[in-house]
Amino acid sequence: MSDKWWKTTVVYQIYPRSFQDTNGDGIGDLRGIIRRLDYLQELGIGAIWLSPVYKSPNDDNGYDISDYRDIMDEFGTMADMDELIREADARGIKIVMDLVVNHTSDEHPWFIESRKSKDNPYRDYYIWRDPVNGDAPNGLRSTFSGSAWEFDEETGQYYLHLFSKRQPDLNWENPNVRQEVWDLMNFWLEKGVGGFRMDVIDLVGKIPDQEITGNGPKLHEYLQDMHRETFGRYDVMTVGETWGATPEIAKLYSNPERKELSMVFQFEHILLDQQEGKDKWDLKPLPVGELKRVLSKWQTELGDQGWNSLFWNNHDLPRIVSRWGDDGGLRVESAKMFAILLHLMKGTPYIYQGEEIGMTNCPISDISEAQDIETINMYRERLGWGYSREDILASINAKGRDNARTPMQWDDTPNAGFTTGTPWLRVNPNYKSINVAANLADPDSIFHCYRKLIALRQANPIVVWGSYELVEDVPEQLFLYVRRHEGRTWAVAANIGATPVSASVPRLGRSDNVIIANYGDRDGADFAALELKPYEAFAVELG
Ligand code: NOJ
Repeated sequence: MSDKWWKTTVVYQIYPRSFQDTNGDGIGDLRGIIRRLDYLQELGIGAIWLSPVYKSPNDDNGYDISDYRDIMDEFGTMADMDELIREADARGIKIVMDLVVNHTSDEHPWFIESRKSKDNPYRDYYIWRDPVNGDAPNGLRSTFSGSAWEFDEETGQYYLHLFSKRQPDLNWENPNVRQEVWDLMNFWLEKGVGGFRMDVIDLVGKIPDQEITGNGPKLHEYLQDMHRETFGRYDVMTVGETWGATPEIAKLYSNPERKELSMVFQFEHILLDQQEGKDKWDLKPLPVGELKRVLSKWQTELGDQGWNSLFWNNHDLPRIVSRWGDDGGLRVESAKMFAILLHLMKGTPYIYQGEEIGMTNCPISDISEAQDIETINMYRERLGWGYSREDILASINAKGRDNARTPMQWDDTPNAGFTTGTPWLRVNPNYKSINVAANLADPDSIFHCYRKLIALRQANPIVVWGSYELVEDVPEQLFLYVRRHEGRTWAVAANIGATPVSASVPRLGRSDNVIIANYGDRDGADFAALELKPYEAFAVELG
């Protein structure tokens, strides 16, 4: 495969609302990101995926856009944005924009026009249908609870919204809509951005009348058109958010010959702790063996027809250290374990802000503390279905999106150095001990583990290009894999468990050459008699 810059880089996701406030309004801003670029350069990342910064009424924190060519008031101005692109570039960091074009805000001028009358020129920019027997056209449900159809009095029809009713879905079957999307993408490409993360892009080929939402028949045709009309002329990266992707589907998106996307986010591993056929709020314990099999399948099956995205976290997911690790006594060890396990795999790693210092979930005891629309809607719906308040709160504390959205913890000053005002979402009370300043000062911190992993990737082609083999004949909780490249062999071992684990794999021999480890006393590995402490992880060079 060709040597694209995004194959050797590590991407850092910023949720701007919660990153760094500079004007005391309690909301992060673009100047805050500029202020923290030196920190990101020290970490070693090569690109920032910027969650949406466009003009928005913030029904879904910026994922509801009312002007794709302007900046949200709270975040700053287009001049700030231009400066951010320039300043990031000066530090070797590209800005990857979040492209949210499955839907707009209901305050976007296209929708304001569209809902005015059935013969408005913008009517067909959205998906309008007549009532059926006085009710919604069909049973499609919104990700944010309830029907995906909203009745509009003005014209007596329903419009489709797969997310909130303030996020009407665009009608991609209309060529004018697609042209508008290409134009706005070109606007940003001309500004010099490093690419796009494409929000729920697998939904744009939907056929609502057949209740087909993901992976519609024209999806890949649209993406090939997009490639040709927009970013195909630029050296940028593109990553699609595709909840339903299997390796076979991922290859359709990311086989370079098909000229679609660089890579996709697949979510198979992320879905492993939810009950079969239910939704994200219906929890079950993580089946660790499945995690090994799923991640390994993705490592081996894409071959040279695709490229993996490697991630545990984003702004929609709970914090990994709280979710599958230990956010109490072994927080540092388990956070580093997940980092080592993932960052030595093949693909492009993504770090979500705060992950690099081991930020944790932030439980609530009452729904009034929640800010996220998905959480609030689900709470109301499940109360109506007869669920107990306690059960719903337990689901929210395990999976709710606010867990990842609490403000970035910079230091131990009030509000963790995030703002001098009142933060829009409360700061996690553990900021006095978990913060960037403390991490920078401690050479054994989680931050320095991430920094080292990024440096290892940059210095060692085996991490980027090496083959991957899962070692199968070991206990479930031990994730052991081998990478090989041009005569070098690395073994990576991670104990995904709170108890010690032992194993014997004599064929791997022994090594005194430790590349990275999360326990200070690890000075080698004898694979014939391997012993790992709780959440221990290391990589060694073999041979
Ligand atoms: C996926 C985004 O990551 C999420 O935050 C958002 O709510 C939905 N798409 C709708 O845009």
